[in-house]
Amino acid sequence: MKRLGILLSGRGSNFLAIASSVAAGELPAEIAIVISNRGEARGISAARERGLLAAVVPSRGREREEHESEVVSLLQQRQVDLVCLAGYMRLLSPQFVRAFPHRILNIHPSLLPAFPGLEAQRQALDYGARVTGCTVHFVDEHLDHGPIILQQAVPVLESDDLAALSSRILEQEHIAYPEAIRRVLGGGWTIEGRRVVFQR
Ligand code: GAR
Repeated sequence: MKRLGILLSGRGSNFLAIASSVAAGELPAEIAIVISNRGEARGISAARERGLLAAVVPSRGREREEHESEVVSLLQQRQVDLVCLAGYMRLLSPQFVRAFPHRILNIHPSLLPAFPGLEAQRQALDYGARVTGCTVHFVDEHLDHGPIILQQAVPVLESDDLAALSSRILEQEHIAYPEAIRRVLGGGWTIEGRRVVFQR
């Protein structure tokens, strides 16, 4: 059974989607630890309510290196096979990324490389995009950037406001993230340049 480490900073709805897939037996994995950089993150209380190990490693007012090495050693102690960023609003340093080569995933609410960074849904709406969506990708040291595992398109409707568009994208995120994890854990893939090539 593969072991997942989840990093989050807030609401935790993607974490809950992953946890539900695990509980339903759709993912051959268990959640070994949930870590937040913010103590007040709703995702942390949700993890504890589910009986999962949840840790808060505060980032505010601390050196990046000190914060990250604490997070990395918790993930290593828990023998995590795959790290899933689920609304983790921090850029990882090259040292962090190197500690888990091709073993860190992120979900982002746009079709990358369009609209990286904060408020991707608002960026798409303001830009006048007709189609946006979500992307699950391997994490490298650049923001919202590594090789793409899976993308799901979501049309932007004339009637959309930020809340409506964000919630339709989020629905797709909750399907895409467990599916991407399932594919990565299934193996049989290689990374060629920026392309993730699945042999099966
Ligand atoms: C999600 O929409 C996720 O795609 C986004 O943060 C939200 C977290 O929601 N992540 C990013 O923008 C990463 N650049 P959640 O806490 O309910 O999963």
